[in-house]
Amino acid sequence: MALVEVNAVWKSYPRRTGLRTELRTVVQDVSFSIEPGETLGLVGESGSGKTTVARMILGLIAPTRGSVRVDGIDLAHASQAEMRRLRRQMQPVFQDPFAALNPRMKVLDIVTEPWIIHHRDTGLPRSRAALHARAAELLKSVGLDESALARHPHEFSGGQRQRINIARALALRPRLLILDEPVSALDVSVGAQIVNLLRSLQREHALTYLFISHSMPLVRYLSTRIAVMERGRLVETGEAEQLCAQPREAYTRQLLAATPELPAIL
Ligand SMILES: Nc1ncnc2c1ncn2[C@@H]1O[C@H](COP(=O)(O)OP(=O)(O)OP(=O)(O)O)[C@@H](O)[C@H]1O
Ligand SMILES: [Mg+2]
Repeated sequence: MALVEVNAVWKSYPRRTGLRTELRTVVQDVSFSIEPGETLGLVGESGSGKTTVARMILGLIAPTRGSVRVDGIDLAHASQAEMRRLRRQMQPVFQDPFAALNPRMKVLDIVTEPWIIHHRDTGLPRSRAALHARAAELLKSVGLDESALARHPHEFSGGQRQRINIARALALRPRLLILDEPVSALDVSVGAQIVNLLRSLQREHALTYLFISHSMPLVRYLSTRIAVMERGRLVETGEAEQLCAQPREAYTRQLLAATPELPAIL
């Protein structure tokens, strides 16, 4: 069974034009699925609707029409308990590694917060020592030293902050990461390190990824399959290598031509 099924999903927002309010459709009849263990790359230019689709999968906004199923459960009809379980199973990592971190919290509190919030469902230990030990383990898995736990986000570089975000996203042992432009705000070489970290974490923890980017080479490097969005519509979906070698749509060819090659570091 697919882990995520997006079925004929639409999203419209009201827009005021003079005295009238019209609906503006930003996602139109989008369908795709994500299989366990794969990386689906979602690519398209700015404003094509990628983040809107991601937010509907995360259950942060509801589709205007159509449905989203995660692990077989229709988000629109999920009970509160089911929704809490699904929220643990899918975790987002967003573009701006600083905006996502509360500047007043220490890294220890940032990465252990999910355990405290979901404590009743997971039964994880809450003693200070137990949390510290698990947090140190988590940081190690993203390439950061235990000493980071006592520090605040502003004491880290952009790449390190994104590692902290990834550590927090992994805290509840999710099955699915929704990676929305996770390296777009970083220098190329730092971004490449994060991309390779994501690849090894995926192997280690059998993770499923939705990887969103406007960079075709990056999407190709990471993805099993690729879905191409243009102005709210899905114009082409296919196996990553096949789609890049023989794109069917002019828009896909344009995206392939527009972006430079991958940095040699990957
Ligand atoms: N809450 C909202 N209200 C009104 N319009 C919105 C809202 N959220 C998104 N939009 C519009 O929907 C369209 C798609 O936005 P979205 O953020 O999904 O694009 P994107 O593909 O993620 O772009 P980017 O690559 O720049 O992140 C845009 O035109 C945006 O202005
Ligand atoms: Mg976006």
